[in-house]
Amino acid sequence: MPIYASASYWVLETQTTGYALGLNQAGLLAHCYWGVRLPFIKDYPPPPDPQAWASFDDAAHQTPEEYPGYAGMRYGEPCLKATFADGVRDVVLRFVAAEVADDATPELRIHLRDAAYPFRVTLHYRLHEDYDLIERWAVIANDGDTPISVERIWSAQWHLPPGDDYRLSHLTGRWVDEMHLRREPLVHGCKVLESRRLHTSHQHNPWFALDRGDANEDNGAVWFGVLAWSGNWKLAAEVADFAAARVSIGINDWDFAWRLNPGETFSAPSSYAGYTTAGFGGASRRLHDFIRDRMLPHGHSIHKVLYNSWEATLFDVDVASQIELAELAAAMGVELFVMDDGWFHGRNDDTSGLGDWRPDERKFPQGLTPLIERVNALGMEFGLWIEPEMVNPNSELYRAHPDWVIHFPTRDRTTARNQLILNIARPDVQAYLIEQIDRLLTTHNIAFIKWDMNRAVSEAGWPEAPGDPRELWVRYVQGLYHIWGTLRTRHPHVIWQSCSGGGGRADLGILCLADQIWVSDNTEPTTRLAIQEGFSQVFPANTMEAWVTDLGWADLPLAFRFHVSMCGALGIGGDLLRWSAERHAEAAHWVAVYKAIRPIIQFGDLYRLRSPHTHPFSAIQFVSKDRTEGVLFAFRTYLRSPATLPPLYLRGLDPAARYEVEGIDGVRSGQAWMSVGLRLDLSDFQSTMRRIWLV
Ligand code: DGJ
Repeated sequence: MPIYASASYWVLETQTTGYALGLNQAGLLAHCYWGVRLPFIKDYPPPPDPQAWASFDDAAHQTPEEYPGYAGMRYGEPCLKATFADGVRDVVLRFVAAEVADDATPELRIHLRDAAYPFRVTLHYRLHEDYDLIERWAVIANDGDTPISVERIWSAQWHLPPGDDYRLSHLTGRWVDEMHLRREPLVHGCKVLESRRLHTSHQHNPWFALDRGDANEDNGAVWFGVLAWSGNWKLAAEVADFAAARVSIGINDWDFAWRLNPGETFSAPSSYAGYTTAGFGGASRRLHDFIRDRMLPHGHSIHKVLYNSWEATLFDVDVASQIELAELAAAMGVELFVMDDGWFHGRNDDTSGLGDWRPDERKFPQGLTPLIERVNALGMEFGLWIEPEMVNPNSELYRAHPDWVIHFPTRDRTTARNQLILNIARPDVQAYLIEQIDRLLTTHNIAFIKWDMNRAVSEAGWPEAPGDPRELWVRYVQGLYHIWGTLRTRHPHVIWQSCSGGGGRADLGILCLADQIWVSDNTEPTTRLAIQEGFSQVFPANTMEAWVTDLGWADLPLAFRFHVSMCGALGIGGDLLRWSAERHAEAAHWVAVYKAIRPIIQFGDLYRLRSPHTHPFSAIQFVSKDRTEGVLFAFRTYLRSPATLPPLYLRGLDPAARYEVEGIDGVRSGQAWMSVGLRLDLSDFQSTMRRIWLV
């Protein structure tokens, strides 16, 4: 029974973890336990009943509440803050009832209600047992007859066992430098990570992992979680009085307000969190499996090797240039040809065209069909780039609808990359974009769409907003999900890729719509190693599209470039017209090798053996789910000579089974490969790929 329920105490159990909550003597819904699954229900601790600390901190402040409202003497981060019509600004939540829905994914619902106002809160706890994940979200309802202004509604507060010695792992970066893994002590006070940019952001990602400073890739207790949301978000990791450690996560409350009218409800996005004793690698693999199995629209379809023409042609696309590239790509074994930016009406550079989603008449006088037919005749599928949320002031769309962009009427409209952001919170804008993109997909044989978003917000105004204009932050994302979701339903075979100038929109919200993420505009392979390492903390390899390009040192071996990109869904983005015949032949070889091993990479278990962030000699390994085969990649960037490379200890093999590793003499047990390891000999800027077989 994964959910144990009494009148005032609940235990949620997944395969290996337990999570307990209950009503304490003051009637507060308190967190009791989150960690390894305990043998007996009676093992789980009772709800805590803290005492007040003199007249300065009352008991409520000391209580690890599951979902604290801002009320009374509470000074930590609350999950809910609202103002009622009479100006009262605190939310006193009382337990009303709980129910358990014991379906395939069991769910506990706890109903709370304000002590004086007809304001309801339902806390949802859904169990993903096989993944050791708990999904939490909150729904609020206004049962009264006056509006309520909601100023914060977070998805969850995750409490850790009390203790002030935690270490926080998170991802940080910037454009062309995303997803760098950082680990730092979580000290007293509050560490805030957030996006205020309208998209998930290149700077931070709504993911956390906490350990006691002693976990590594393979061992140690790790509490980890994410928020499935593609707009402004906030994560507050707090160590409060008496070493109470917790992470709150949800929609960002910065500049946010929502008018909850009588009879309306509002649902916060889901936060998923888990606990493991299998270290950071174990935490990642749980997320990877869950994302692949339960979130991605086509999580178990092999991703095709694609070619993208952006870095070869930039905006200078036309039928002839694209066909020339397509022919070369097809000869290499590429299966999907993607035409990037520059194909639509008036798009010769980044100053014009966005918004007018029809083929440019000069570049494509007969439309896109002749190109698509040629690509198909070459045995490849066809994909297309779009950036639906944007408009150039120099476009037919903007001239017809200047009011459709996000703006304040009295302020200049700040352009970035010469573009403004369409206010897709507006139903008329949503309808326009659905109609435009639907037409493209209906009238062309398009198998893949790269959905880009190339700027962050400014002047976040919505003059005609029907409710509070600060609802924009949320209604924009809801609009995005609505547009994308409608198109996905109408064209279920299409594979979508989420791009925001690289990895600006990488989150579990968008992965319910998109199968892939364009991780970074930085395709330089040595930098990419660390970016990919960060990405892999959260996202499985099949979501990580990675191109081989010409960026970086010209003399970096092509094999190195391929090996880096083969750790995800392989793509090629170099200028094939400038590649030598030998280069084409070598690329064809690696494409063929990738096709043979990609099920292991795209669907297998990922083990980070040595971090490229901390070691110039790094390695990553993939193992098939049945542990019969694997593949190891190792990379050496720059190491001062004379250097002796340390052994690599393989992971994830069946200890008792016998395996062979490509290029190394002898058959050994899985245990031996994992305990004795193997040695490789690489010089600077050399890499290797070794297959692993059960014999
Ligand atoms: C940013 C993307 O990340 C690039 O790959 C490319 O699609 C350009 N936009 C096109 O404008």
